[in-house]
Amino acid sequence: MRFDVVSIFPEYLAPLELSLIGKARTDGLLELAVHDLRSYTQDRHRTVDDTPYGGGAGMVMKPEPWAQALEDIAAAAPPAPDKAAAPSPGAAPARKKPTLIVPSPAGEVFTQQLAYELAGEDHLVFACGRYEGIDERVLEWAAEQYTVRSVSLGDYVLNGGEVAVLAMVEAIGRLIPGVVGNPESLVEESHSDGLLEYPVYTKPSSWRDRDVPEVLLSGNHGKIAKFRREHQLRRTAARRPDLLDKLDVSNFSKTERNVLWELGYAVVDGRAVRRTGK
Ligand code: ADE
Repeated sequence: MRFDVVSIFPEYLAPLELSLIGKARTDGLLELAVHDLRSYTQDRHRTVDDTPYGGGAGMVMKPEPWAQALEDIAAAAPPAPDKAAAPSPGAAPARKKPTLIVPSPAGEVFTQQLAYELAGEDHLVFACGRYEGIDERVLEWAAEQYTVRSVSLGDYVLNGGEVAVLAMVEAIGRLIPGVVGNPESLVEESHSDGLLEYPVYTKPSSWRDRDVPEVLLSGNHGKIAKFRREHQLRRTAARRPDLLDKLDVSNFSKTERNVLWELGYAVVDGRAVRRTGK
């Protein structure tokens, strides 16, 4: 899998040389290149922004350097044949467009599900906007060569796309087979099944008058699984009730339904529905 990142602050992306993502790069599991947008400018001042048409505060990123950068990146990494496209007789094989991700607080929200989806792509290009954003025509024009997605990290505003790219590359990169040493650790983590992760403990079993829950020391795997499931449900109900609202609970066991009931939910048509008065 290949990642390209375009930014006016390439140094911002230096942490991608560290830890699991850095190791995955040296192991050849993923290729990642960072490009300085200013190197695609033509003028002496290496200008990347200008005032907004229609007025208003701030500056807007100019289209020309972005077009040059995106054209060069697409040309340097020709798309792989599209395995999903039906072959037409005599025609050149259809090519899968790379995906262009434009981080923006005005984008669709980045979720674990989107991370899984993007981890299945061959080539992701990230365009880090700064100031008030990138001239909208760049995104329209780029759709000829790229599948374009505007993606938000959450409902708050950052100074630019770089921090969002660090988060997204890490979340996507760790899903590439081989990047995380023990693939089991991807299974029981927050958001993998629509719930938050259960609490975890390590040695010592007693610390500052606080004991690890006894069941975790029991060696009884059935009881441990039950304890963890219950705490996943409790934690999700307390911290992220919006996740419970979205969950398909039609396959929940009697025990899980009892926990939901205790937490103030009834199961109706396969959904956890809040009981009134709770
Ligand atoms: N750029 C500025 N704010 C952002 C956000 N919340 N998500 C992604 N990119 C951004």
